[in-house]
Amino acid sequence: MITAQQRKSRGQLCPFTTKVQSTSQQKKPSVRLTPATLLYTGKSPDGNHLLRSAQYLHKELPVRVAHRIAEFRGLPFIVGCNPTILHVHELYIRAFHLLSEFPSIRDMDTERQYCKMVKTLLDDHKDVVTHLAEGFRECRKHITDESLIHNFLDRILTSRLGIRMLAEHHLFLHQDKNDSIGIIATKMSLKKVIEKWVSFAREQCELRFGYAPSVKINGHTGATFPYIIQPLDYMLPELLKNAMRATIESHLDTPMNLPDVVITIASNEVDFIIRISDRGGGIPHSLLKKVFQYHFTTANDDESVSDNGGALGTMIEAVNQPTAGPLCGFGFGLPVSKAYAEYLGGSISLETMQGIGTDVYLRLRHIDGKQESFRI
Ligand code: ADP
Ligand code: COI
Repeated sequence: MITAQQRKSRGQLCPFTTKVQSTSQQKKPSVRLTPATLLYTGKSPDGNHLLRSAQYLHKELPVRVAHRIAEFRGLPFIVGCNPTILHVHELYIRAFHLLSEFPSIRDMDTERQYCKMVKTLLDDHKDVVTHLAEGFRECRKHITDESLIHNFLDRILTSRLGIRMLAEHHLFLHQDKNDSIGIIATKMSLKKVIEKWVSFAREQCELRFGYAPSVKINGHTGATFPYIIQPLDYMLPELLKNAMRATIESHLDTPMNLPDVVITIASNEVDFIIRISDRGGGIPHSLLKKVFQYHFTTANDDESVSDNGGALGTMIEAVNQPTAGPLCGFGFGLPVSKAYAEYLGGSISLETMQGIGTDVYLRLRHIDGKQESFRI
């Protein structure tokens, strides 16, 4: 919880007393790009592509941030007054001022200054998801219409993912790498990305429980294609953590004989699918409708985010995710992953066999596939 005193000492603005000249920006529609546009914009030796990319961001980011500010202003008064939510609202107002007051970008010197500011903003906003999770947990008791919070969170979190991807894309364009263009990994090996998060999730289980289930990966294990790794870096650890926790907690009497978590990859001309199958006992009928709700969790208090010793609880925190903060125990893993997957033109669905286990299907569109992918 952030107090008024803390806000004051940080020199933060008060959204109720600060005039924001964002109204005209709030009315402008945002210009969303396809990943193919990001991939094929080309590279000029004189750095002209960097200037053009910075000019697009310079126009686009204030519009998107202004839309978020409008949404904060539309929240019920009692929610908008929550100090933690107010803090995030203020962060966006501050970002709006910095972004909209930045001078036109006509040369590489100004472009470098712009990059510096954007980098700082990305860092200043890194804990936004955690703050929103805390803030809404504190004030959800005041709200009768559950869909109000759900829709607000879906919109702000996916819009934020888009803003951060665009900003990072521009910053990464400065790096000269063979296997990527900005944020797009041109030959991403899906198996390798999954393996990275399997190792991480297993390590966290080992730390907390002293053991972890083994994981088998099958299907199109050789598939490589262009994709943006950042959202996978959020979704995969969340889904793997759930599968491993369920496996361990449903086999407490046979910890040395855990069933494997099995991951199947499929890639076709339109999309790719990751199925994570566990034998963690399934999700009870009574809870099935709730698991995609924000703040729904069956994590024990001692696993929750407030306990820094809870390894599963701090999985995301431990890797200092660019898109998220420490979330396990907040009940944010599934709803945020679902919102991200849908933003990326895909889906997350669950099939559960009560008493046996759960299959989670993460389905995402290719960015160079036969159908239009999505817009960032
Ligand atoms: P958290 O991990 O913080 O609890 P999630 O949104 O990731 O939040 O998951 C919400 C709840 O859904 C979990 O607490 C758990 O009860 C249930 N759940 C998710 N995945 C599985 C799974 N594979 N098996 C059993 N229960 C699951
Ligand atoms: C966020 O991460 O919340 C942002 O919107 C970042 C942006 C201000 C650069």
